[in-house]
Amino acid sequence: MNKYDDMKRIRDEVVALTESPLYAYRVANHYHAVLGEGSHDATIMFVGEAPGKNEAIKGRPFVGAAGKLLDLMLAKNNIPRESVYITNIVKDRPPENRDPLPSEIEMYGPFLDRQIQVIRPKVIATLGRFSYAYIMRKFDLDLFIEPISKAHGHIFDAEAPFGPIQIVPLYHPAAAIYNQHLKETLFKDFEVLKQFV
Ligand code: URA
Repeated sequence: MNKYDDMKRIRDEVVALTESPLYAYRVANHYHAVLGEGSHDATIMFVGEAPGKNEAIKGRPFVGAAGKLLDLMLAKNNIPRESVYITNIVKDRPPENRDPLPSEIEMYGPFLDRQIQVIRPKVIATLGRFSYAYIMRKFDLDLFIEPISKAHGHIFDAEAPFGPIQIVPLYHPAAAIYNQHLKETLFKDFEVLKQFV
C-alpha cells in the first residue's frame, strides 16, 4: 500500500462513520467530513481542533478566518501551504462551533493517529489546547502538559514509532483573531517552525 491508498482508506472510513455523534449533523446540513490536506511527505504537520462551518461546507481544513491567519503566518515564514499537512483531531463540525467533546476526540483520535503514521512528520505543530493535550498524551508527555499559556512556542522532544518527532504547541489562530497580544505571540512562536523547512 502506498501513502495515497492509506490516506484514502482513512478518508473512506471517516466518511462512512455513521456511529459518530456528529454524523447525522453532517448529513442533515450537507456538510463534508474534513480529513486534511497537504503533502503526504510533509515535514511539518498542523493539527487543529475541528472544522468550522466554512471548512465543513468546503471539505477543507482552515479555509475560514482562522485559516487566513494560518496562511499569513505560513507565507511570512516562506513555508508553502502545499508543503505541510493540515488536519484536525475531530473530522466533523461540532454544532455551533462548540468545543469538541471528549467522546468526539476519542472517536476521531485514532484516525489522526493513522494519518500521523502515514505522513511520518518531523514536527507536529498543535493549534489550540485540545490538540496540544491530545498529542502530548499520545507521545507519552502527559507529565509535561501545562496550560497552553505556558507551553506555547516551546519544543518538546518525543519518540514516534517511525523515529524522533518534535511537538510545538501554538495558540489556536481563531483565538488570536480578536486578541492583538495573542496574535503577536502566535506570530512570534510560529517562527520556530522555519528551521524545519
Ligand atoms: N479551526 C480548527 O480547529 N480547524 C479548522 O479546520 C478550522 C478552524
